[in-house]
Amino acid sequence: MNSALIVAAGSGKRMNAGINKQFIKLKNKEIIAYTIESFCKNENIDEIVVCIKKDEEEFFKEHILDKYKFKNIRIAYGGKERQDSIYNGLKEVNKNCDIILVHDGARPFVDNRIINESIESAKEKKAVVVGVPVKDTIKIVNEDIVESTPERSTLWAAQTPQAFKYKLLVEAYEEAYKNNYYGTDDSMLVENMGQKVTMIMGSYENIKITSPEDINFGEQILNTRR
Ligand code: CTP
Ligand code: MG
Repeated sequence: MNSALIVAAGSGKRMNAGINKQFIKLKNKEIIAYTIESFCKNENIDEIVVCIKKDEEEFFKEHILDKYKFKNIRIAYGGKERQDSIYNGLKEVNKNCDIILVHDGARPFVDNRIINESIESAKEKKAVVVGVPVKDTIKIVNEDIVESTPERSTLWAAQTPQAFKYKLLVEAYEEAYKNNYYGTDDSMLVENMGQKVTMIMGSYENIKITSPEDINFGEQILNTRR
């Protein structure tokens, strides 16, 4: 079986909306509702675990799960950092899971092509990250001074889902906590185990809603989809 672990237990500081950004509506529907719907509709996903903040549980159940009639969603509680939320969520995942897809609740525009290719690829390669080649030239900057300019053709922006053999990801998380290591994505933890991670093409529309200008951009993406 394949499981999706969606993390939605952040606080959305950069959005500065006064509420958890996943509850902001794009065209009259909450961001997290689009995200959950994308995985519910995919026939290769057998289980969905959503990590939420404990004190947002009632709101989440009433305004998301009940309102949109999402069935069989398992709930886990978030932790201090994204990595802690995922670690908690992993404990709720069915132990018969083959491929686990970790996904940001704040990335509502993931589609079937991305989900299916992530699963297919992870079955063979064990660890797969979705991303897009960067369009800008990226500079390494130290206190306002440009230190170096990595060759752009080798640079990709990592998105989610990131898909792994379930046992490999659990092992990578346990190893990270043993070493008190915090990464900024799941792939880093698996890379640290010496495991090769494969990059596959995501989409420039698979954005993470992060700061206020992303709201307009998100609504434009929805407009082109109707
Ligand atoms: N997340 C989580 N638990 C945390 C931190 C983040 O589940 N302790 C989730 C967020 O809800 C989000 C995803 O991880 O869907 C990606 O994180 P990010 O975009 O950084 O969201 P926030 O941490 O909420 O935003 P910010 O960093 O601006 O506060
Ligand atoms: Mg964050």
